Order: sequence, then C-alpha cells, then structure tokens
Amino acid sequence: MPESITITDNRNGETIEIPIVDGGVSAAEWAKLLPGIWFYDPAFMTTAVTESSITWIDGDAGKLEYRGYPIEQLAERSTYLEVAYLLLRGDLPNRQQLDEWTHEITYHTFIHENVRKRFLEGFHYDAHPMGILVSAVAALSTFYPEAKDIFDPATRYKQIIRLIAKMPTLAAAAHRFSAGMPFVYPDNSLNFPANFLSMMWKTAEPRFDANPALARAVDVLFILHADHEQNCSTTAMRVVGSSHADPYSACAAAAAALYGPRHGGANEAVIRMLGSIGSVENVPDFVKAVKEGHGRLQGFGHRVYKNYDPRAKIIRQVAYDVFDSTGKNPLLDIALKLEEAALGDEYFVSRKLYPNVDFYSGLIYQAMGFPMEMFPVLFAIPRTAGWLAHWVELLDQDQKIARPRQLYIGSARRDYVPLEER
Ligand code: SDX
Repeated sequence: MPESITITDNRNGETIEIPIVDGGVSAAEWAKLLPGIWFYDPAFMTTAVTESSITWIDGDAGKLEYRGYPIEQLAERSTYLEVAYLLLRGDLPNRQQLDEWTHEITYHTFIHENVRKRFLEGFHYDAHPMGILVSAVAALSTFYPEAKDIFDPATRYKQIIRLIAKMPTLAAAAHRFSAGMPFVYPDNSLNFPANFLSMMWKTAEPRFDANPALARAVDVLFILHADHEQNCSTTAMRVVGSSHADPYSACAAAAAALYGPRHGGANEAVIRMLGSIGSVENVPDFVKAVKEGHGRLQGFGHRVYKNYDPRAKIIRQVAYDVFDSTGKNPLLDIALKLEEAALGDEYFVSRKLYPNVDFYSGLIYQAMGFPMEMFPVLFAIPRTAGWLAHWVELLDQDQKIARPRQLYIGSARRDYVPLEER
C-alpha cells in the first residue's frame, strides 16, 4: 500500500494523491485541489505547524527526547546549561565547548542597573512576579536595540546568551521586589542553579551556599522544563518570531502564554487545589465533583501525553530527594491519594488523564520555600532555552510569517444605520 492519501473534491470529481512524509501530509498539495477551502482546526488539535528536529514526544508511550537523548538520561546525568547547549546547537558539547558556553552565560547574568533601579521599582508593591518577568523581558529589547539584527550570527548568539543568563536574575529580582527584600547581584563563582538560589535567598551573609541537594533538584527541574516541542508558549514564540520581531519581544510573548493556568500556571493551580481539598479524607468527594463537571483535576491531562508524563515520574523521585532536606510537604499525601483515585477511575482512564509535569513540581517548589506566585516564573527560566531553540530553527527554516485563515460566519454585507434610526 502506498504511503499516501487521496483527496477527492466531490463537486467535480477531481482528486489529488499526497504522499505521507514524516507523519504528515503537505497542506500546500491539497490546497491546489481546494482553493479557498480551509481545513478547520481551532487550537491546532490536528495540525503540524512546522518540521522540527529539537524535541520528540511519543504521547501514547509517554516518551520524551531532546535531540534524540531520552529525558531520563539527561535528568540523571546532565545539567541545565549542557541541555540548553544541546537544544540550541543540536549536539552535546565537548569539554571546551561546555566551558566556553558556561563562561559566556556566567558573565552575562547581570542586568542593566536601570532595569533594577528604575524599571522593577516601578511596579506596585504586590505585583505578581510573572507579570514583572514578562514586562522585564520585553523591556530588555530596549536595552539591546541591536537584537533586531536577527540574521547576524554573532548578534543572534549574543542575545541568546543574554536571555538564558539573565532570566534567573530577572526572576529572582521579581521575587525580591515582591517580598520587599533587597536585590541580590549574581555571584559568578557559583554554578547556574546555585547562583539562582543565592539571588533568591541570600540575606546578610557575605556568600550564600545553597544546599547541594536543592541546587541539584533545581537543575533537574530546569532540565525537565527546558523544552516540549510545539506547546502553547513555544507556538507563541514561533508566531511572534515569524514576524521577525527581536528575540526579547518574542520571549516576552512566550512567557505571557506560559502565564496561563492551562499551561505554566498549572502547578500553582495544583497547590491551590490540594489546599482546598484539605485532607486525604476529602479526596473522594473532590474526585466525585470533578467527574460531575465541577472544576478540573489540576496537573492532570495533556494534549499530547495520553499516558503518564515521563517528566512527572522523574519529578516524583526528585520530590523525595528534596523532602529529605526540607521535610515532607504535607500536601504530598493528598496528591498521592488523588493520583491513586484518578488512575483507578474510569472517568479519568477513559479520557487518558494522567499526571503531567505540573502535578508534583509545585510540591517541590513549595517545600523549597518558593511562593506559589513564583511557580510559572520557575517554568519560564528553563523554557527560555527551548523557546530560543525553536526561534533559531524557525529563522533557519526561513518560514513565512504565521498568518492562518478563518471560516467567516458573521453578518452578510449591510449598510450603516444612522444613530437616530437604530
Ligand atoms: C503544560 O503542551 C505542552 O507540552 C504543555 C506542557 C509543556 O511542557 O509545555 O507539557 C506544560 O502545560 C502541562 C499541562 C498543565 N495544565 C494542567 O494541568 C491544567 C489541567 N489540564 C487541562 O486543563 C487539560 O488537560 C489540558 C489543557 C492540559 C489539555 O486540554 P485538551 O487537550 O484541550 O483536552 P480537553 O480539555 O479537550 O479534555 C479532554 C477531556 C474533556 O472531557 P469531555 O469534555 O470530553 O467529557 O478530558 C477532560 C475534559 O473535560 N479533562 C479533564 C482534565 N483535562 C481534561 N477533566 C478533569 N481534569 C482535567 N485536568
């Protein structure tokens, strides 16, 4: 049997055969047969918007690979900075490449003093840190106007380094401002996760030495959140990037998409959900209410994974490692009971609803002392590497500007009615 499909326009009997290539069929082909007819696919449920070599997901089997490397191996043996290099360059770095990459990023962690003193101070005292981060990333485009030269290799590389390097600084600065604490400058003698924890938690001590187990846990969580193919925020990055906007503006748009509770805001929603359930005894009633259509099981379900999210399995192990240092998060027992109830209930099983990356991550962040408002910010820091990898891929593919069509179902043409006649 040929690896192809045939489409027939029954209005005139014309047909076209289209090969199935890499799991897809080219829309440009069937558009020849059906000019002016659009395949209607809101939310891109069945649409491939690009070819990509960065991340591969098998949703049915619950598998995830970055540039062909299984997420389990990267989480166990790699670091976030090494994974960021892998996502952007396509291969794991050798020692010299990794040292150079690490040096570049380490020495670009500072932010312009005007961002700290003038921009961040301008927010309301209780501004949500994600709102601050989205704004601050966009503001960086005004500090680096040369970033608009997106096709100059050296300029493009410099902005990539700056964005990866400065995200933790902006994230920590947003928290410190919200908490009424003084800004902490980066400490270039620390590695990426330890420096982030120093900027988050340092108080009067001359140097903040993070608990190595917690710094490693942060690094693993950053690896797990670094990319996830065409998710909502990466799609925003690609759409804005397709207009040839600078990378700071595109990253700000991606971060804004991540802010939503259906996406990066889910782990905050999980903690609020577990808190509202209150005790293990209340789990059955909560599950019953969800099945009756009252609310959702936050941290469950996924557009692609119709099996256990492989990241959730790893995060669950990281949780136990963290709790060894911080003490167990009391909400863990409710989460475990909720997972057990859902995985054994036909309602969730039939809808292939399993824990996703957000179900356990919030428990860890909360145990580590991060306020809930920081959870989407903790997601944005590592996802910056994924956003930028897709942005580079988009530009290298020389894709056209993203401009989908629509099916118009509004009013037919009509004439203006003067106010006195309405
Ligand atoms: C992330 O795309 C990515 O890769 C995202 C991400 C990444 O790394 O970038 O993996 C990160 O965003 C993970 C997802 C985090 N969000 C949540 O945990 C929020 C809760 N989950 C959902 O709202 C939902 O599952 C989505 C948004 C994640 C996916 O929604 P879909 O694919 O549009 O599925 P759907 O809403 O059409 O649901 C299908 C059915 C529906 O039931 P019926 O109408 O058919 O009866 O499943 C039900 C839904 O009501 N359903 C749920 C549910 N999720 C879906 N019912 C209860 N609880 C849930 N969580």
